[in-house]
Amino acid sequence: MKMTESRETVEERGVRGKGYPFHITQEEDRELRRKAARAVPAAVINQASFFDEYVQQLMIPPVVMDMVRKAENMRLAPWEVAAMRKHLAPAEVSGDKVGLLRKILQFKACADKTHPPYIRVACTGSSEYDYLALEDGHVLSLPEGKDVGSPVVLEIWPAQHYSPIHSHGDTTGIVFCLAGQLDVMLYDSLDWNARKLGLITLSPGQCAWLSKDTYAVHRVYCPLNGGEGTTGPGFMNSTEEFGASFHVYLNEDETAMVPHDHHHHDHHHEKHHSRKAFDFIDEKSKKKGTFKTHSDLSWSVLRSVLADTDID
Ligand SMILES: [Fe+2]
Repeated sequence: MKMTESRETVEERGVRGKGYPFHITQEEDRELRRKAARAVPAAVINQASFFDEYVQQLMIPPVVMDMVRKAENMRLAPWEVAAMRKHLAPAEVSGDKVGLLRKILQFKACADKTHPPYIRVACTGSSEYDYLALEDGHVLSLPEGKDVGSPVVLEIWPAQHYSPIHSHGDTTGIVFCLAGQLDVMLYDSLDWNARKLGLITLSPGQCAWLSKDTYAVHRVYCPLNGGEGTTGPGFMNSTEEFGASFHVYLNEDETAMVPHDHHHHDHHHEKHHSRKAFDFIDEKSKKKGTFKTHSDLSWSVLRSVLADTDID
């Protein structure tokens, strides 16, 4: 242990077993992974190799299997990953210029201090921080159109950053890992003290799923090396490691294969039904809030930025 460490760091060490983002001990971590592995229906979509695994996979809704089949061959190309790493890298000397993705993280960290930021990339329309790519000379023009609720989103999770606990309401969707590694904790309801259903780790090509009745509430975390310090509110990592995931969320009226349950649509119902907004638990107040989904960057812009980036 270095002598220069502050008392706070040492104190944090003492409780690290229960620390951010999941607040569980190592023993609970192991038990939650065992729980997820036994879950019916399975939390991770796999090609079954045993009878019991087949039973776990069998109850995954057909509409979900259809989304997975269509996403199955998606990956980020090695050059795309390398260019993203460059744009996520911290400044070597403080005050140095940083890449587009790190810049967006810095803006987002200032706007929301309750948890370390991640980046949402919409596959259609325009997004809040597209203008930064124009300012940095990566693109010559910005995409037309509004920030429309794209059913398909790419999410970039810097190492050791995480989301709050949130619910995807009545949507049906998949979380498909494209790069790096992602942990997903599943909860039985939207509450700070909700029962944890299981913990899974996704590697590239692996896929989690959700529907309004199953696995709709979760928290995502990138467990890779984030450098110095301990994750928590106000944390910003100091490495270029990240996980990336591809998310598809279909509203109830878009999932032709799921029977619609109309009596759930009364207006007195508090919960948000579509992907336009989702309910979450604020990390500081531990109370329920609503997050209007918006995107930070557009895929058309990010693709041009990545293509414009020299990778050595
Ligand atoms: Fe989510």
